[in-house]
Amino acid sequence: MKNYNNKFLWGTATSSFQIEGGSESDGKLPSIWDTFCKTNGKIKNGDIADISCDHYNRWEEDIKLLEELGVNSYRFSISWPRIYSNPNLNIVNNKGLDFYDKLIDKLLEKGIIPFITLNHWDIPQSFQDKGGWLKRDNIEYFLNYVNIITSRLGDKVKHWITHNEPWVISNLGYFDGIHAPGNKSRLESFTVAHHLMVSHGLAIPIIRENSINSEVGISLNLCPAYPASSSEHDRYASLLFDQSFNKLFLNPLHGNNYPNEIISHWKKNKELPNNLNFIKSNDINIISTPTDFLGINYYSRSIVRSNLVKENENLPIEVFPNHKTEFDWEVYPDGLEKLLISLNKNYKLDKIYITENGASYTSFPDKNGNINDINRIKYLDSHIIACNNAIIAGVPLKGYFLWSLMDNFEWAEGYRHRFGLIHIDFNTLERKPKSSFYWYKNKIEYQKNILPLTMVS
Ligand code: FCB
Repeated sequence: MKNYNNKFLWGTATSSFQIEGGSESDGKLPSIWDTFCKTNGKIKNGDIADISCDHYNRWEEDIKLLEELGVNSYRFSISWPRIYSNPNLNIVNNKGLDFYDKLIDKLLEKGIIPFITLNHWDIPQSFQDKGGWLKRDNIEYFLNYVNIITSRLGDKVKHWITHNEPWVISNLGYFDGIHAPGNKSRLESFTVAHHLMVSHGLAIPIIRENSINSEVGISLNLCPAYPASSSEHDRYASLLFDQSFNKLFLNPLHGNNYPNEIISHWKKNKELPNNLNFIKSNDINIISTPTDFLGINYYSRSIVRSNLVKENENLPIEVFPNHKTEFDWEVYPDGLEKLLISLNKNYKLDKIYITENGASYTSFPDKNGNINDINRIKYLDSHIIACNNAIIAGVPLKGYFLWSLMDNFEWAEGYRHRFGLIHIDFNTLERKPKSSFYWYKNKIEYQKNILPLTMVS
């Protein structure tokens, strides 16, 4: 295995449900996303992910593409429902484990460091049927799963992410209802967020024990909030946005209580009861169990306008969005640079990884078969420059994982958004590198030889 210690990690990211397919292969149990996909009206175009990119069968071809790309790390997730063969989640499915075992062996053989996410949303449906993340006792099931995975793979894998984006799980799944399981309650959303964070804290010692000298962290999707104007209303709305999106997770991770204003706001609106008895006295200590890194998924910022700004106040909007990607997310690399710098200033972070960054643009092969996704290249280039600037400013950023290696199943949006460096023809499952693939390959090659990204240690 190549020694990448102290080297900047250049990678790509994917997740099990989005690329694997094989929805029933080798005894895989259903996940909540299998159920959600089959519920009418939940996914655009009625798309399902039973086959998706068929990575479960084509993983060797995909690793060859990773090798050609020249990355030294690859972030992917493990599908929890592949790991058990019974709905009660106490009999291990060795075939499911074997899949990840051989994937990891191949990556290591190619000198590509596996960076594993334990929960990227596709939890077993039977876990959900027991109450899912709403029930504190269910954390035991997650810890059992973490123990199985890290004791089996912990000698080979040294980079672990507990959860991917607890904001998305709790907010989109339990408040907005647009993700599985599709609920709409603030109390449920906050309860789930809290239990996810407690389970993160409790998983850390298990991972450390099973995977000696490994790095453990969590990936948060952070979205800096910018008030639409300098008015007090907009500034306050922006503070609430920041607290509900970012600080709700950053605070407890760093040993602080949940942010005051947003909790009071939810209580005042009767979205939450006064007594939040699902939070126990020692929980913040558990959640703030020290980690080795913070994973940041960054896509865009949010410009926040208060509902209290009535039309007749005629308050001008002072902040204007730039070009947007097809997801309607503003392209705002400056937000990433400032976010990294302020996180580094406000928290004692030893290590940061960008665990996701990328853009949705559709492009198909032209008449010569080339896929010219110039907009993606511009997006990526500007964000990598932002990372570079942050490193120059002293931020301990140690790696960048581009979302995503290939076009894939984009959750509630189905296949209509394409984030990949590799184009997938979802009829033939043919893989075809886009221009951005070759651009990223050159970028990695070039960056290996220049300051400062390779010099951080
Ligand atoms: C993130 C998810 C990832 C992908 C990107 C576009 O929120 O972690 O799975 O869907 O968005």
